[in-house]
Amino acid sequence: MTKAQQHTSGQKHKNIVVLASGSGSNFQTLIDELEHDDSITIRALVVDRPCRATQRATQHGIDYFELNRNNDTDFNASVLQAICRDADLIVCAGYLSIIPASFIEQFPEKIINIHPSLLPDFGGAGMYGMKVHEAVIASKTQQSGCTVHYVDSGVDTGKIIQRATVPVTHSDTAETLQQKVLVEEHKLLPAVVQSLLR
Ligand code: GRF
Repeated sequence: MTKAQQHTSGQKHKNIVVLASGSGSNFQTLIDELEHDDSITIRALVVDRPCRATQRATQHGIDYFELNRNNDTDFNASVLQAICRDADLIVCAGYLSIIPASFIEQFPEKIINIHPSLLPDFGGAGMYGMKVHEAVIASKTQQSGCTVHYVDSGVDTGKIIQRATVPVTHSDTAETLQQKVLVEEHKLLPAVVQSLLR
């Protein structure tokens, strides 16, 4: 169905904005999922530092904006708000900056985040990237995974939408666990975006 047909059939076209800070492999899975989907468009990528995710945006003709982390928080919140105006979903895919509370209040249950552990375990301030996997290995738990959750004003405290699990074996290191979890992230995030927007 073309965008024009959706318009006449009354089906609303959906827009999402993605926020990232790193390699953008999760952003890439959204590009791949939505590239041939006429009903959902990635309107823009927002980054908070120079990172590989912007190359992916350029390769796929997606506009990107780089926020300066040294800017006043309220200023960045208003820039974000302008970019995300009318967005149906805002997806934090490896975005490392804390999202300003004034921005979150404007988009109740419209901002989601992917976290590389089974929340509420191994979340919170300072728990990001490899630190999460190191803590999981140190705890000797036999299960880890990833979580997609709504973003609220806390750190990794918003309502959980969906989780995916992976086994942690004796031979796992933080690095091998990160790779295993990332495989699940790449399936979970596009699936949740599709289910929330349909
Ligand atoms: C992922 O592990 C994600 O869960 C976490 O940051 C990492 C981002 O990876 N929040 P990438 O930039 O999508 O490759």
